[in-house]
Amino acid sequence: MIFGSVAAVAVAGVVMVMPDANAAASTLGAAAAQSGRYFGTAIAAGRLGDSTYSTIAGREFNMITAENEMKPDATEPQRGQFNFSSGDQIYNWATQRGLKVRGHTLAWHAQQPSWWGSLSGSSLRQAMIDHINGVMAHYKGKLAYWDVVNEAFNEDGSRRNSNLQNTGNDWIEVAFRTARAADPSVKLCYNDYNIENWSYGKTQGVYRMIQDFKSRGVPIDCVGLQTHFTGGSSLPGNFQQTLSSFAALGVDVALTEVDVTNASTSQYQGLTQACMNVPRCVGITVWGVRDSDSWRSNESPLLFDGGGNKKAAYNSVLNALNAAGPTSPTTPPTTGPTTQPTTPPTTPPATTSGRIVGAQSGRCIDVPNSSHNNGTRVQLYDCHNQSNQQWAYTSSKQLTVYGNMCLDAAGSGNASAVQIYSCNGQSNQQWNLNSNGTITGVQSGRCLDVWGTGNGQQVQIYDCNGQANQRFSLT
Ligand code: G3I
Repeated sequence: MIFGSVAAVAVAGVVMVMPDANAAASTLGAAAAQSGRYFGTAIAAGRLGDSTYSTIAGREFNMITAENEMKPDATEPQRGQFNFSSGDQIYNWATQRGLKVRGHTLAWHAQQPSWWGSLSGSSLRQAMIDHINGVMAHYKGKLAYWDVVNEAFNEDGSRRNSNLQNTGNDWIEVAFRTARAADPSVKLCYNDYNIENWSYGKTQGVYRMIQDFKSRGVPIDCVGLQTHFTGGSSLPGNFQQTLSSFAALGVDVALTEVDVTNASTSQYQGLTQACMNVPRCVGITVWGVRDSDSWRSNESPLLFDGGGNKKAAYNSVLNALNAAGPTSPTTPPTTGPTTQPTTPPTTPPATTSGRIVGAQSGRCIDVPNSSHNNGTRVQLYDCHNQSNQQWAYTSSKQLTVYGNMCLDAAGSGNASAVQIYSCNGQSNQQWNLNSNGTITGVQSGRCLDVWGTGNGQQVQIYDCNGQANQRFSLT
């Protein structure tokens, strides 16, 4: 179905043109952005001079990973002598176009500088720490994510035997602690392949490590599932369960290196849909632009053919992204302003705890089934006096339920889900209670919004529009 990009509404003889929130986006990045996600690709610096390549990449994607140029062999070819020329070429190309950048990777058993080969034990450990510090200092404050550690597990869920592993089992957490101190602004990810099937040993091994890190306060923000459904692997039926299980540990998840043998449309559709179904699945990156750019070009695994033409899989991905959001946007006003209302003043609420009652529905913001699980999306429901509708507004702008869980925006874009999550002090869990009754997310600036008035209506964030479905009272 094709939706118009604007809607014309005649009011008292005046034709107003307003954005149609139903408009289907026509590029992968824009389609993903509708649900607050990104759609990325891996870029090789050496191909940027190819105009077919760079035109597609700049048009379709809004997150860029350097395919090889930020790896340890590229960035520190001699000890203490860093080289960011190729990495910066990609970084500059991306950011000049408004695209974000994902760093890949700081510590890995492969693509190490040759001088690491003559080190072991504490000297190799120190080299890894120095490498993380040197590279992260260069990109400090500039990147959205870093793959801090890559591919550290065996298929059976044990640790991969590598020179880094031989420096001591704590090498991974040391890498993450070093990374957090080096640049507190970037999200820190563990990245691996063959962790897509929930019942697979390697998936469970990585899951246990993330669980352990979260329980001990080792800084980790995200898990990257490479999602190489090539070389004999394919989309498992339980992929969404894997994503939501990792997410429930309190980390973001992302599909970081997607490619699929012969670009199976059903697998591309399925992997995209699985991500769309998990609020903390923040984005998808395909591992290259055209089939001819792929590390497995003989399997034609990408979304564009060698001539730069969109393949059938492209459409299956685009449609799944478009369907995800905004799925049921708020009804545009038939009269009223065509511009966004100005930000209302923020005043401390008269009451700092109670139920959050919708002005349009009269119903309360409710945690379904009194769930305490991270990632449970909140809804509207008939008001009652149970604890799953009792919220407290704290001095740090959190809206807490059950005392220790926070109202949390799963993304910052239009139609991002609003859920409960363990309180973590981040701005996606901070809200302004405004004098006009709106509740705006500190991170997104968008309004708490419901699609309708009935029991079970889900809560999202959306551009503030001044309507009653975005007004609430804490009483
Ligand atoms: O640039 C040299 C070229 O000068 C030389 O003539 C040629 C000879 O083989 O090699 C070229 O370098 C190659 C490089 O890619 C650039 O094309 C390397 O040999 C080759 O090993 C390297 O492969 C990369 C591979 O990682 C190395 O492990 C792939 O491009 C890259 O797509 C791949 O990416 C990895 C992710 O980082 C981690 N997950 C798996 C993924 C796929 O293997």
